Amino acid sequence: MPQVTFFLLSPYLMHHDARFVHEPEAVCPHPDGPPPTEAAPARDASLPLGGGPRQCLGEGFAWMEGLLVLATVAQVWRMALVTGPPVEPWGLVTLRPKQGIQVHLARR
Ligand code: HEM
Repeated sequence: MPQVTFFLLSPYLMHHDARFVHEPEAVCPHPDGPPPTEAAPARDASLPLGGGPRQCLGEGFAWMEGLLVLATVAQVWRMALVTGPPVEPWGLVTLRPKQGIQVHLARR
């Protein structure tokens, strides 16, 4: 192997690989579910917040913030997905839905 080796790791591809993720195309996949084809450690294939020495420093904060935002909004509003064309992924620095995701809000 050369002394300097450059490689890219794609969390997107890993998260959509049925060898590692149970139901990879499900809206809410189950990374900890049983891998269907190989006895691969599925938890190591789930990298939404990085891993190893590059593990996200803000992971705890990010989980807390996400839960608080969701709980705050969901207390007041009931959310229903507006049906339309399939959500198209848009790869920038982070991955996002190309046309956004439209949600209908109804006050609880
Ligand atoms: C949902 C929110 C977040 C996501 C999805 C996320 C995701 C990630 C990912 C994937 C990495 C690894 C990047 C790599 O391997 O090069 C990372 C690293 C990092 N994140 Fe986050 N992050 C989030 C929120 C935050 C917050 C809130 C903070 C700070 C308050 C933060 C601070 C950092 C830092 C400093 C690193 C670099 C760690 C290092 O390389 O030593 N992140 N994040």
